Amino acid sequence: MLIQMKKSIQENRIIEIKTPDSIFFGVGAAKKLPNQIKILSPGPVLIVTDPGLVKAGIVDKIKKCIATESLDVHVFDAVDPDPDKENCYSCLAMAKSIGANILVGLGGGSAIDVAKATAVLAVNQGQIEDYVGIDKIPTKGLPTILLPTTAGTGSEVSPIAVISDKKQHLKLGMVSPFLYGDVAIIDPELTLSCPASITAASGLDALTHAIEIVTNKFSSPVIDGIMYEAIRLAGQHLRTCVHEGSNLSARTGMAMAAFYAGMGLGPVNTAAVHALAYPLGGTFDISHGMANSILLPYVMEYNLSACREKYAKIADCLSQDNKTHSTSQASAAVDLIKTLSQDIGIPQRLRDINIPEEAIDTMSKTAATVTRLLHNNPREMTVKDINTIYRSAY
Ligand SMILES: [Fe+2]
Repeated sequence: MLIQMKKSIQENRIIEIKTPDSIFFGVGAAKKLPNQIKILSPGPVLIVTDPGLVKAGIVDKIKKCIATESLDVHVFDAVDPDPDKENCYSCLAMAKSIGANILVGLGGGSAIDVAKATAVLAVNQGQIEDYVGIDKIPTKGLPTILLPTTAGTGSEVSPIAVISDKKQHLKLGMVSPFLYGDVAIIDPELTLSCPASITAASGLDALTHAIEIVTNKFSSPVIDGIMYEAIRLAGQHLRTCVHEGSNLSARTGMAMAAFYAGMGLGPVNTAAVHALAYPLGGTFDISHGMANSILLPYVMEYNLSACREKYAKIADCLSQDNKTHSTSQASAAVDLIKTLSQDIGIPQRLRDINIPEEAIDTMSKTAATVTRLLHNNPREMTVKDINTIYRSAY
C-alpha cells in the first residue's frame, strides 16, 4: 500500500523543467563565448572568477578568446572558496563601477553562484537576505553566461545560488527561475587544470546530486533516466579524472555527469546529504563538495530501507563489471560509493577533517532547520536521527 502511494505521487506529479536559454556542451565550446556576449549585450563585460583560475592561466585564455570582438572586459577575480555576502557585495560594487551590462561566471560553483547573485542584486537593489528561500527574487537580473571549470555543482544549469553568512554561520540558499543563467557553456577543456582534490570532491558532489534526485521523495521518472546515466558516467570516469587529470575523454565524461545531474536540481533538487552538509560549511568552512562527499555514504545507509529498488539500480550503474543487483543486494550501492570515495582520496570521517565531536549536537539542530531539503528525503529524519548519522560519520 505504501509503495503504491509513493509510486502514484511520483508518476502523477507534473514537473517543470527550465534551463538556460542556450546550453553549449563540448570540447572547445568556450569559443562560443564572444558571440554569445554580443548577442546578449554590447557590454561592458564583468568576468567573475577566483584567483586560482587567474594563476592557472584560464582567465587569460578566456580574455584572449573574448578579445576577438571589441568588447570592454573587466575581471573580478576575488571570489572566495566559500563566498559570503560581503564577497557578493564587493563583486556588485565592481559591476556598478564599470557599468557592467553582462556578467560571465567562470569557475566552480562559488564563482558561478557569486555571478548569479550579483546579476540579481544589480537589478533588484535589495540585500541577499531579501531573496533567501524559494521564489523571493522579484525580477530578472543582468544577463549571465556561465562557464564551469569543475565537474560538480551543476550551478550553470540550476536555479539555485548558495551564499554564506559567515558572521551567523549560515548558508543562505536562494532558489528562483531568475537564477538560471542565460547561457551555459560547458567546455571539458576548462576542467583539465582542476586539481585532484577539487576534482574528487566536486565529482562526488555531482554524484550526490544524481543519487539524491533519483531517490528523492519527489523524484520523477522523467528525470530519473538522466540521473542514472549521470551516476554511470561518474562511476566510469571520476577515478581517471582524479588520477590522470589531463585525460580529456574522462574529463568530458565527468562534465557530462555533472551537467546531467545539475539538470535535476531545478525540477527535483537534493535532500538530506545537502541539508547535513550545511553546518559543516557554515560553521567549519568545509567546502560544499567535501562536506557532501564525506556524508553521502552515511546518509545512504540511513535511507537504504526506503529505497532498496533504486539503490540496486544505482549499484548496477556504479559496478565496474556490469554486474546487476537484486533489491536484497541494494546495500552494494553504499559499498560502491565508499570504495569510490576511498579510491579518489576523500577523507572518510568527520574527525579526519577536524570537526570537534562536541559540535555534533549543535550541528544536528542546525541541519534540522534545513527543512527545504529534508522534506525531499526518502526517509523522515528527526534531530535525533541526524545526530546518529553525524556520530556514525564521526
Ligand atoms: Fe551540491
